[in-house]
Amino acid sequence: MRAQIAAANWKMNLTLQQGEALLDDLSKATDNLDNHRVVIFAVPSPYLAMAQEKIKGKTNVFIAAQNVYNKKSGAFTGEISVEMLASLGIQWVVLGHSERREYFNETNALLAEKVNLVLEFNQQPIFCCGEPLEIREKGTQNDYVATQLQESLCHLSAEQLQKVVIAYEPIWAIGTGKTATSEQAQEMHAFIRAELAKKYGNEVADNITILYGGSVKAANAKEIFGMPDVDGGLVGGASLVGSEFATIISSLK
Ligand code: G3P
Repeated sequence: MRAQIAAANWKMNLTLQQGEALLDDLSKATDNLDNHRVVIFAVPSPYLAMAQEKIKGKTNVFIAAQNVYNKKSGAFTGEISVEMLASLGIQWVVLGHSERREYFNETNALLAEKVNLVLEFNQQPIFCCGEPLEIREKGTQNDYVATQLQESLCHLSAEQLQKVVIAYEPIWAIGTGKTATSEQAQEMHAFIRAELAKKYGNEVADNITILYGGSVKAANAKEIFGMPDVDGGLVGGASLVGSEFATIISSLK
């Protein structure tokens, strides 16, 4: 069975003390995970070392960065490099979140460079894709997401692609409380898997973990995660509440 992942995206939230307390609250929920179940916390960069310390000794629990620069090192004030993340023992990096695409003008081409760098340093990307509302309303979401995959991922070898986790996050569902229906999620996840199968074959595509993100809550996680091509979630708001995220973790199939 491909990895089933509950990934928390804290975004730009929480003080250090609140982050420490949240990870303590979730200590029980992240103990003794079955071998195919994984929990990842994508925390703000200042908290990476603290979070790594908090999860030390746990199985299948990891800390992710929420972004990385597309250069290895140098005169790029304020940026964070894959080398820095590697030196912290960070193994996962969220790339291409819609908020970074929107507010920081991240293009598919730039994200392809970031994916390459993350893989070069033996880290794993959680690659975000998803359409804005106007695309969904036009019914061209499949073409939109296919282009994101084609321009940022489909240059990879089959071996490289198998290191990538994909997160489908319809932008119109992020932070809105307007969750995609389970059928909408399943339809897009199946489409993504079919698109990857066209280039890499069914065996590789069937092993790619595809997460859903966009208003995942304790109340809806079981139904969404139960869909055959949904392999867990990338969770924003609900991941900031210990009891909510604990239920989401327990909803993994
Ligand atoms: O990366 C996950 C995030 O975009 C989803 O946010 O608050 O709708 O769960 P939220």
